[in-house]
Amino acid sequence: MSDPWQKRVELCGGRAVCLLGDCLEILPTLKAGSVNAAVTDPPYDKALDVGELRRVTKGNIVVFCKPENQFFVPDEYLFWVKTPSTKNYRSKCGRFVEMVLVERCGLAFNPLHWSQMTGVYDDRLVMPPAHPCEKPVSLMERLLRIYTKLVDCVLDPFMGSGTTGIAAMKTGRRFIGMEIGEGYFNIACQRIADAAPLFTQAKEGAGAETRRDFP
Ligand SMILES: C[S@@+](CC[C@H](N)C(=O)[O-])C[C@H]1O[C@@H](n2cnc3c(N)ncnc32)[C@H](O)[C@@H]1O
Repeated sequence: MSDPWQKRVELCGGRAVCLLGDCLEILPTLKAGSVNAAVTDPPYDKALDVGELRRVTKGNIVVFCKPENQFFVPDEYLFWVKTPSTKNYRSKCGRFVEMVLVERCGLAFNPLHWSQMTGVYDDRLVMPPAHPCEKPVSLMERLLRIYTKLVDCVLDPFMGSGTTGIAAMKTGRRFIGMEIGEGYFNIACQRIADAAPLFTQAKEGAGAETRRDFP
């Protein structure tokens, strides 16, 4: 097998590392415990290698999934009520809610105002989305604020258009992302680079984490 790191590595805005390639090949090359948390949104029917995610991650693991294909039994269930669209109804199945599995590990847990921690979120996408399965930046920001700490390194091995990376920049977290499709990889790198200047600002305004009034 050729070295999976040799395809393309981008340092987006000097704050995030993005790797073009198959995460199933790249993840085994990462050291055990080398990231603080994994926050990811794999394709619905992908066989996610949870063992590999647990090996590389020291802290919490947050994974979007459909109810019929839960990748593991979580400590906590969250739900995202999706942005309404006719595309949410197909294959004889309506899908207007997505599940989010949370496996708790380590100490990272930051209580926000109760209204930000209902476990059922209805954040809206900014239209038009850059990816057919895009998640709202505001939702990913909230998840990072709750389940990770400032300057933690957050992994998203299925980053698509890079939404987790943007949320990482906006909340002062470092980021490592992987994407197999070159088109989406390019979009992700650009979006994360555009958000990278917010990293320093987020670090300096870290009080928002404890003021319990975000967003
Ligand atoms: C559900 S989408 C993620 C969308 C993302 N949350 C966003 O907001 O744009 C999953 C992404 O994983 C990518 N993918 C699928 N298999 C992969 C693999 N083995 N390694 C890396 N990326 C993969 C797909 O190309 C797709 O863009």
